[in-house]
Amino acid sequence: MPFRIWILLLLTHQLVSTVYSATQCQSHKHEPHLLCRMCGHEIAKGSSIIRKKSSMALSSFNLTVMNNDCLVQLFENGVPEQFDVFTVTQADLALSGKPTTALSWFPGYAWTAALCPKCGVHLGWRFEANVIDSRSGRVVKDSFDGLVLDFLLSEEYSNSLTKVPKLSW
Ligand SMILES: *[C@@H]1O[C@H](CO)[C@@H](O)[C@H](O)[C@H]1NC(C)=O
Ligand SMILES: [Zn+2]
Repeated sequence: MPFRIWILLLLTHQLVSTVYSATQCQSHKHEPHLLCRMCGHEIAKGSSIIRKKSSMALSSFNLTVMNNDCLVQLFENGVPEQFDVFTVTQADLALSGKPTTALSWFPGYAWTAALCPKCGVHLGWRFEANVIDSRSGRVVKDSFDGLVLDFLLSEEYSNSLTKVPKLSW
């Protein structure tokens, strides 16, 4: 290999590892997460919590979760089972099955069952819809995740999550 190329490769490698360690460092400035109650896997950042109000909710309440104003809505499925659900922009989940709009708790949004990617326990649902972007006028995909409050733990045990975490493992 010509010496100049070798030097170039060496410099590139140096640059890439510097950038890599810088990003590693940032993600280590650890932001509190919501964890899978079953295995402790980090599912979503506290800051990813969003309020997505649904007309299908049987009832709702406000809850402060890791300093975020969280809207918890009670939904019932066809079984029937009831779930206290809150929403986040995107969580680390493994999707199971195909999306369907049937009996969606967020009308117009198709849902897919969502599992913990580590232990496979059911944690919630992903909701997706094609919506028209108000700025560009283009059709874009909008998605968010609904998580079952009882299936997650707050990483900061001392915060105001009203349900005291009980570790069952
Ligand atoms: C919940 O919070 C929202 C704003 O964040 C407020 O408009 C609403 O009144 C609150 N609901 C209750 C029941 O406190
Ligand atoms: Zn898990």
